[in-house]
Amino acid sequence: MNHFNYKNKSLHCEDVDIPEIAAQVGTPFYLYSKATLIRHFQAFDSAFTVDHITCFATKSCSNIGIMSLFAKLGGGADIVSGGELFRALKAGMDPQKIVYSGVGKTRDELKYGLESGILMFNVESQQELLALQDVAAELGLIAPVSFRVNPDVDPKTHAYISTGLAKNKFGIPIETALDVYRQADGLSHINTVGVSCHIGSQLTDVSPFVESLQKVKGFVTALRDTGLDIKYIDLGGGLGITYDEETPPEPAVYAKALEEELGDIGCTLILEPGRVIVGNAGILVTKVLYTKQGGKKFTIVDAGMNDLTRPSLYGAYHKILPVVDYGQGVETGDVVGPICETGDFLAKEQEVPVSKSADLLAVMSAGAYGFTMSSNYNSRPRVAEVLVDGDKVHIIRKRETLEMLIAGEVIPE
Ligand code: LLP
Repeated sequence: MNHFNYKNKSLHCEDVDIPEIAAQVGTPFYLYSKATLIRHFQAFDSAFTVDHITCFATKSCSNIGIMSLFAKLGGGADIVSGGELFRALKAGMDPQKIVYSGVGKTRDELKYGLESGILMFNVESQQELLALQDVAAELGLIAPVSFRVNPDVDPKTHAYISTGLAKNKFGIPIETALDVYRQADGLSHINTVGVSCHIGSQLTDVSPFVESLQKVKGFVTALRDTGLDIKYIDLGGGLGITYDEETPPEPAVYAKALEEELGDIGCTLILEPGRVIVGNAGILVTKVLYTKQGGKKFTIVDAGMNDLTRPSLYGAYHKILPVVDYGQGVETGDVVGPICETGDFLAKEQEVPVSKSADLLAVMSAGAYGFTMSSNYNSRPRVAEVLVDGDKVHIIRKRETLEMLIAGEVIPE
């Protein structure tokens, strides 16, 4: 459930009429509903009855105005870069609820994580382990480590966002991971505290999660048999949402399946949800510039693939709704942006509102991996982000200016 609903044929975000926001901030802009964000976070977090930490996947939506909501609700953060660590701390996340994933952490990033006192590093290779030992020794600190194991489970999702197959670059093969734990145990500045895994994103079935947990559980037992104390099991993120007709499991069903499999293993569970919390709590609002009939019908809008890249990159579907429904009806066509590439589309051969110049369109389900994947391609300033709370409108990120486009650039003498 979300708080984007029509009232008097005009799409509202909570109690605010979207055209009013467009008049105030211009278009395009990302728009989030605070009540929806809170509801989704709580639905997920409260579905788990075992000791757990919900570490929001920062990469899905990293605005500190949004992350701070989850911090206040007791959430933590899953981060994958020094930049995300900076954001998580600025948003008020407790460092002891921050887990650091990713295959390519630099020494500077490892240092930043150590100095910040994060809960654990999800280490993905032997070389990263040695770099972490080295950096921790220099700082005179002990690095809390969990290895990301690759369980070789098929998440049955888009190839670009599958991560838990042996052919993917992520993690350490679960069959050889025991040796790495033994090696870590012998290192002076490493403390192994957990096992982690993340098999992919936008999963619409619970069985791959259960299958990978089975493997992780067996592995934790094997580790304990060798005398290693494992406190945390990190199962990553990945629970899918409905963009179109998908029917992903409800958080409660997902949580129950995981807890049943987990049994009484006595570990704190760490979860790293992103999309399921923010995906349907945000939309992209764009304005129609022109329409034209070529080989097919094109609706040309002021947002492009630089603002929302998912359709171009993954062929992802986003529903397009009219902001004001004046009975215009629907037609099959493309909604395209101003970027000079044929791959620049927000909707391709799908049912879209019949539109005319200056109409507003809502690109739905854009809260996750929307703004965070946006860029300045074609020298387009990144758009504003707006958070609605009841009848209040907060601009949580200003639209970039032209000056910001060249900030840091220099014409050599
Ligand atoms: N944890 C780790 C280690 C991850 O790599 C990811 C996502 C998550 C958690 C959060 O997954 P979620 O709950 O959001 O599915 N840009 C793509 C999605 C990439 C996901 C990458 N990793 C998209 O727009 O669909």
